[in-house]
Amino acid sequence: MVNLKGKDIISLRELKKDEIEYLLSRAADFEKILQKEGYTNILEGKILATLFYEPSTRTRLSFVTAMHRLGGNVIGFSGPEGTSAVKGENLSDTIRTIDNYADVIAIRHPEEGSAKLAAQLSTRPIINCGDGSHAHPTQTLLDLYTIRKEKGKINGQKVALVGDLKYGRTAHTLAYALALFGADMIFVSPESLSMPKDVTTELKDKFEIEIKEYTKLENIVKDADVLYITRIQKERFPDPGEYEKVKGAYKIDLNVLENAKKDLIVLHPLPRVYEIDPELDNTKFAKYFKQAYYGIPVRMAILASVLGK
Ligand code: CP
Repeated sequence: MVNLKGKDIISLRELKKDEIEYLLSRAADFEKILQKEGYTNILEGKILATLFYEPSTRTRLSFVTAMHRLGGNVIGFSGPEGTSAVKGENLSDTIRTIDNYADVIAIRHPEEGSAKLAAQLSTRPIINCGDGSHAHPTQTLLDLYTIRKEKGKINGQKVALVGDLKYGRTAHTLAYALALFGADMIFVSPESLSMPKDVTTELKDKFEIEIKEYTKLENIVKDADVLYITRIQKERFPDPGEYEKVKGAYKIDLNVLENAKKDLIVLHPLPRVYEIDPELDNTKFAKYFKQAYYGIPVRMAILASVLGK
Protein backbone atom coordinates (compact mmCIF):
# COMPACT_ATOMS: atom_id res chain seq x y z
CA MET A 1 0.00 0.00 0.00
CA VAL A 2 1.52 3.31 -1.12
CA ASN A 3 1.55 6.08 1.47
CA LEU A 4 3.17 9.39 0.53
CA LYS A 5 2.00 11.36 3.55
CA GLY A 6 4.71 13.81 4.62
CA LYS A 7 6.98 12.87 1.68
CA ASP A 8 9.29 15.46 0.12
CA ILE A 9 9.27 15.45 -3.68
CA ILE A 10 12.85 16.57 -4.38
CA SER A 11 13.80 14.36 -7.30
CA LEU A 12 12.07 11.53 -9.09
CA ARG A 13 14.85 9.19 -8.04
CA GLU A 14 13.48 9.20 -4.50
CA LEU A 15 10.11 7.88 -5.68
CA LYS A 16 9.68 4.17 -6.27
CA LYS A 17 7.98 3.05 -9.47
CA ASP A 18 4.83 2.01 -7.61
CA GLU A 19 4.69 5.45 -5.95
CA ILE A 20 4.90 7.11 -9.37
CA GLU A 21 2.19 4.76 -10.66
CA TYR A 22 0.06 5.67 -7.64
CA LEU A 23 0.40 9.42 -8.37
CA LEU A 24 -0.43 8.92 -12.06
CA SER A 25 -3.48 6.88 -11.14
CA ARG A 26 -4.67 9.48 -8.61
CA ALA A 27 -4.13 12.19 -11.23
CA ALA A 28 -6.49 10.32 -13.55
CA ASP A 29 -9.10 10.28 -10.77
CA PHE A 30 -8.65 14.01 -10.19
CA GLU A 31 -8.93 14.68 -13.91
CA LYS A 32 -12.35 13.04 -13.83
CA ILE A 33 -13.35 15.26 -10.90
CA LEU A 34 -12.09 18.33 -12.78
CA GLN A 35 -14.19 17.40 -15.79
CA LYS A 36 -17.32 16.64 -13.74
CA GLU A 37 -17.56 18.77 -10.60
CA GLY A 38 -14.41 20.88 -11.10
CA TYR A 39 -13.83 20.94 -7.36
CA THR A 40 -13.44 18.86 -4.22
CA ASN A 41 -12.87 20.05 -0.66
CA ILE A 42 -10.50 17.35 0.60
CA LEU A 43 -7.80 19.91 1.47
CA GLU A 44 -10.11 22.41 3.15
CA GLY A 45 -8.21 24.22 5.90
CA LYS A 46 -4.78 23.35 4.46
CA ILE A 47 -2.33 25.99 3.22
CA LEU A 48 0.18 25.67 0.38
CA ALA A 49 3.13 28.13 0.32
CA THR A 50 4.59 28.78 -3.15
CA LEU A 51 8.13 30.16 -2.81
CA PHE A 52 9.22 31.02 -6.34
CA TYR A 53 12.62 32.73 -6.52
CA GLU A 54 12.65 32.31 -10.32
CA PRO A 55 10.01 33.12 -12.97
CA SER A 56 7.26 30.61 -13.66
CA THR A 57 3.85 30.62 -15.31
CA ARG A 58 2.72 26.99 -15.48
CA THR A 59 4.30 25.39 -12.43
CA ARG A 60 3.31 28.06 -9.94
CA LEU A 61 -0.15 28.78 -11.31
CA SER A 62 -1.04 25.14 -11.80
CA PHE A 63 -0.05 24.46 -8.18
CA VAL A 64 -2.20 27.41 -7.09
CA THR A 65 -5.09 26.14 -9.24
CA ALA A 66 -4.64 22.59 -7.96
CA MET A 67 -4.75 23.75 -4.33
CA HIS A 68 -7.86 25.88 -4.92
CA ARG A 69 -9.61 23.00 -6.71
CA LEU A 70 -8.86 20.81 -3.70
CA GLY A 71 -10.49 23.34 -1.37
CA GLY A 72 -7.23 24.62 0.17
CA ASN A 73 -5.61 28.04 0.38
CA VAL A 74 -2.36 29.46 -0.98
CA ILE A 75 0.23 31.96 0.24
CA GLY A 76 3.52 32.79 -1.42
CA PHE A 77 5.54 34.95 -3.74
CA SER A 78 6.50 34.92 -7.41
CA GLY A 79 9.95 36.50 -7.20
CA PRO A 80 12.28 37.46 -4.36
CA GLU A 81 11.46 41.18 -4.82
CA GLY A 82 9.10 42.18 -2.08
CA THR A 83 10.45 39.54 0.31
CA SER A 84 13.15 39.79 2.96
CA ALA A 85 15.55 38.00 0.60
CA VAL A 86 16.35 41.50 -0.76
CA LYS A 87 17.39 42.48 2.78
CA GLY A 88 19.79 39.56 2.83
CA GLU A 89 17.71 36.84 4.47
CA ASN A 90 19.02 33.42 3.52
CA LEU A 91 16.91 30.53 2.28
CA SER A 92 17.29 28.58 5.53
CA ASP A 93 15.71 31.32 7.63
CA THR A 94 12.89 31.79 5.13
CA ILE A 95 12.12 28.07 5.24
CA ARG A 96 12.21 27.97 9.06
CA THR A 97 9.69 30.85 9.04
CA ILE A 98 7.30 29.50 6.39
CA ASP A 99 7.36 26.12 8.12
CA ASN A 100 5.17 27.73 10.79
CA TYR A 101 2.79 29.29 8.25
CA ALA A 102 1.93 26.53 5.78
CA ASP A 103 1.20 22.79 5.61
CA VAL A 104 3.14 22.14 2.40
CA ILE A 105 5.79 24.15 0.54
CA ALA A 106 6.42 24.32 -3.22
CA ILE A 107 9.75 25.95 -4.05
CA ARG A 108 11.62 27.05 -7.19
CA HIS A 109 15.12 28.40 -6.63
CA PRO A 110 18.14 28.95 -8.93
CA GLU A 111 20.57 26.95 -6.79
CA GLU A 112 20.96 23.21 -7.25
CA GLY A 113 20.30 21.50 -3.94
CA SER A 114 18.09 24.29 -2.58
CA ALA A 115 14.99 22.07 -2.37
CA LYS A 116 16.97 19.38 -0.56
CA LEU A 117 18.23 21.97 1.90
CA ALA A 118 14.65 23.16 2.45
CA ALA A 119 13.57 19.57 3.10
CA GLN A 120 16.30 19.14 5.71
CA LEU A 121 15.07 22.22 7.57
CA SER A 122 11.31 21.91 7.20
CA THR A 123 8.86 19.68 9.01
CA ARG A 124 6.43 20.15 6.08
CA PRO A 125 6.51 18.28 2.76
CA ILE A 126 8.74 20.16 0.30
CA ILE A 127 7.94 19.99 -3.41
CA ASN A 128 10.82 20.86 -5.72
CA CYS A 129 9.53 23.00 -8.59
CA GLY A 130 12.99 23.36 -10.13
CA ASP A 131 16.39 23.83 -8.45
CA GLY A 132 18.83 25.28 -10.96
CA SER A 133 19.65 22.79 -13.70
CA HIS A 134 19.16 19.84 -11.35
CA ALA A 135 15.57 18.57 -11.27
CA HIS A 136 11.90 19.41 -11.85
CA PRO A 137 10.13 16.25 -10.71
CA THR A 138 6.52 17.46 -10.93
CA GLN A 139 7.11 18.39 -14.59
CA THR A 140 8.31 14.84 -15.20
CA LEU A 141 5.24 13.38 -13.54
CA LEU A 142 2.99 15.41 -15.82
CA ASP A 143 5.14 14.46 -18.83
CA LEU A 144 4.68 10.77 -17.99
CA TYR A 145 0.97 11.34 -17.47
CA THR A 146 0.74 13.09 -20.86
CA ILE A 147 2.55 10.32 -22.74
CA ARG A 148 0.43 7.62 -21.14
CA LYS A 149 -2.77 9.58 -21.75
CA GLU A 150 -2.00 10.53 -25.36
CA LYS A 151 -0.20 7.35 -26.49
CA GLY A 152 -1.88 4.76 -24.25
CA LYS A 153 1.39 3.54 -22.71
CA ILE A 154 4.96 4.61 -21.99
CA ASN A 155 6.72 1.27 -22.36
CA GLY A 156 8.20 0.84 -25.85
CA GLN A 157 7.53 4.38 -27.04
CA LYS A 158 10.41 5.90 -28.99
CA VAL A 159 10.91 9.29 -27.36
CA ALA A 160 13.26 11.87 -28.87
CA LEU A 161 14.51 14.42 -26.34
CA VAL A 162 15.58 17.45 -28.34
CA GLY A 163 17.25 20.76 -27.52
CA ASP A 164 19.18 21.90 -24.48
CA LEU A 165 19.90 18.60 -22.77
CA LYS A 166 22.75 20.10 -20.74
CA TYR A 167 20.95 22.80 -18.78
CA GLY A 168 17.36 21.61 -19.30
CA ARG A 169 16.41 20.13 -15.93
CA THR A 170 13.17 18.68 -17.32
CA ALA A 171 15.18 16.57 -19.78
CA HIS A 172 17.44 15.13 -17.06
CA THR A 173 14.58 13.98 -14.89
CA LEU A 174 12.50 12.79 -17.82
CA ALA A 175 15.32 10.65 -19.23
CA TYR A 176 15.54 8.78 -15.93
CA ALA A 177 11.76 8.34 -15.70
CA LEU A 178 11.43 7.14 -19.30
CA ALA A 179 14.11 4.55 -18.66
CA LEU A 180 12.28 3.42 -15.52
CA PHE A 181 9.09 2.96 -17.56
CA GLY A 182 10.79 1.13 -20.44
CA ALA A 183 10.67 3.76 -23.20
CA ASP A 184 13.32 3.94 -25.94
CA MET A 185 15.23 7.22 -26.05
CA ILE A 186 17.07 9.26 -28.63
CA PHE A 187 18.94 12.42 -27.62
CA VAL A 188 19.27 15.30 -30.07
CA SER A 189 21.25 18.39 -29.09
CA PRO A 190 24.04 20.68 -30.24
CA GLU A 191 27.36 19.07 -29.23
CA SER A 192 27.90 21.77 -26.59
CA LEU A 193 24.51 21.02 -24.97
CA SER A 194 24.52 17.24 -24.85
CA MET A 195 23.07 15.19 -22.00
CA PRO A 196 25.42 15.35 -18.98
CA LYS A 197 27.67 12.33 -18.50
CA ASP A 198 26.27 11.54 -15.03
CA VAL A 199 22.81 11.12 -16.59
CA THR A 200 23.97 8.93 -19.49
CA THR A 201 26.18 6.85 -17.20
CA GLU A 202 23.27 6.21 -14.85
CA LEU A 203 21.05 5.20 -17.79
CA LYS A 204 23.68 2.76 -19.06
CA ASP A 205 24.60 1.30 -15.68
CA LYS A 206 21.21 1.10 -14.02
CA PHE A 207 18.91 0.39 -16.98
CA GLU A 208 21.43 -1.03 -19.52
CA ILE A 209 20.16 1.44 -22.09
CA GLU A 210 22.01 2.03 -25.31
CA ILE A 211 22.47 5.79 -25.66
CA LYS A 212 21.74 7.18 -29.13
CA GLU A 213 22.90 10.78 -29.56
CA TYR A 214 22.46 12.99 -32.64
CA THR A 215 22.95 16.63 -33.53
CA LYS A 216 20.53 16.74 -36.49
CA LEU A 217 16.79 16.58 -35.98
CA GLU A 218 16.13 15.39 -39.55
CA ASN A 219 17.89 12.09 -38.79
CA ILE A 220 15.37 10.97 -36.20
CA VAL A 221 11.94 12.47 -36.96
CA LYS A 222 10.56 9.58 -39.00
CA ASP A 223 11.16 7.01 -36.21
CA ALA A 224 9.86 8.97 -33.22
CA ASP A 225 6.55 8.35 -31.42
CA VAL A 226 7.07 11.34 -29.13
CA LEU A 227 9.12 14.41 -29.93
CA TYR A 228 9.91 16.23 -26.68
CA ILE A 229 11.61 19.51 -27.47
CA THR A 230 13.02 21.90 -24.87
CA ARG A 231 13.98 25.57 -24.83
CA ILE A 232 17.66 26.51 -24.95
CA GLN A 233 18.06 27.77 -21.35
CA LYS A 234 19.47 31.26 -22.00
CA GLU A 235 19.56 32.15 -18.30
CA ARG A 236 21.93 29.27 -17.44
CA PHE A 237 24.70 30.12 -19.95
CA PRO A 238 27.80 31.57 -18.25
CA ASP A 239 28.78 33.17 -21.61
CA PRO A 240 25.98 34.96 -23.57
CA GLY A 241 28.05 34.53 -26.77
CA GLU A 242 27.69 30.75 -26.46
CA TYR A 243 23.90 31.12 -26.23
CA GLU A 244 23.84 33.19 -29.43
CA LYS A 245 25.61 30.34 -31.29
CA VAL A 246 22.93 27.76 -30.44
CA LYS A 247 19.73 29.69 -29.71
CA GLY A 248 17.90 28.70 -32.90
CA ALA A 249 19.41 25.23 -33.21
CA TYR A 250 16.08 23.42 -33.66
CA LYS A 251 12.70 24.53 -34.88
CA ILE A 252 9.83 22.15 -35.50
CA ASP A 253 7.45 23.11 -38.26
CA LEU A 254 5.25 21.20 -40.71
CA ASN A 255 8.14 20.84 -43.11
CA VAL A 256 10.29 19.10 -40.46
CA LEU A 257 7.40 16.74 -39.69
CA GLU A 258 6.74 15.84 -43.33
CA ASN A 259 7.89 12.23 -42.89
CA ALA A 260 6.84 11.83 -39.27
CA LYS A 261 4.56 9.04 -38.09
CA LYS A 262 0.92 10.04 -38.39
CA ASP A 263 0.39 9.58 -34.65
CA LEU A 264 3.55 11.38 -33.53
CA ILE A 265 2.94 13.74 -30.63
CA VAL A 266 5.01 16.87 -30.00
CA LEU A 267 5.57 17.86 -26.38
CA HIS A 268 7.33 20.85 -24.83
CA PRO A 269 7.45 21.79 -21.13
CA LEU A 270 6.96 25.41 -22.25
CA PRO A 271 7.65 28.30 -22.41
CA ARG A 272 8.71 28.03 -26.06
CA VAL A 273 10.77 30.68 -27.77
CA TYR A 274 11.99 29.54 -31.21
CA GLU A 275 11.48 25.79 -30.96
CA ILE A 276 7.97 25.22 -32.32
CA ASP A 277 6.42 27.13 -35.18
CA PRO A 278 2.92 28.30 -34.19
CA GLU A 279 1.66 26.73 -37.46
CA LEU A 280 1.81 23.45 -35.53
CA ASP A 281 -0.53 24.60 -32.77
CA ASN A 282 -3.77 23.50 -34.44
CA THR A 283 -2.48 20.22 -35.80
CA LYS A 284 -2.97 16.77 -34.28
CA PHE A 285 0.76 16.64 -33.49
CA ALA A 286 0.53 19.48 -30.96
CA LYS A 287 -0.04 18.25 -27.40
CA TYR A 288 2.00 20.84 -25.50
CA PHE A 289 -0.92 22.92 -24.26
CA LYS A 290 -2.75 19.79 -23.20
CA GLN A 291 0.46 18.77 -21.42
CA ALA A 292 0.37 22.06 -19.48
CA TYR A 293 -3.28 21.38 -18.57
CA TYR A 294 -2.39 17.92 -17.23
CA GLY A 295 -0.21 19.73 -14.69
CA ILE A 296 -3.35 20.48 -12.70
CA PRO A 297 -4.62 16.92 -12.01
CA VAL A 298 -1.05 15.72 -11.51
CA ARG A 299 -0.33 18.47 -8.96
CA MET A 300 -3.68 17.81 -7.27
CA ALA A 301 -2.55 14.21 -6.85
CA ILE A 302 0.79 15.31 -5.40
CA LEU A 303 -0.73 17.79 -2.92
CA ALA A 304 -3.44 15.42 -1.73
CA SER A 305 -0.96 12.54 -1.37
CA VAL A 306 1.78 14.36 0.56
CA LEU A 307 -0.88 15.84 2.86
CA GLY A 308 -2.23 12.36 3.56
CA LYS A 309 -5.65 12.85 1.97
N1 CP B 1 7.31 23.96 -17.60
C1 CP B 1 7.55 24.90 -16.68
O1 CP B 1 8.24 24.68 -15.66
O2 CP B 1 7.00 26.12 -16.97
P1 CP B 1 7.11 27.41 -16.08
O3 CP B 1 8.55 27.84 -16.07
O4 CP B 1 6.20 28.41 -16.74
O5 CP B 1 6.67 27.07 -14.69
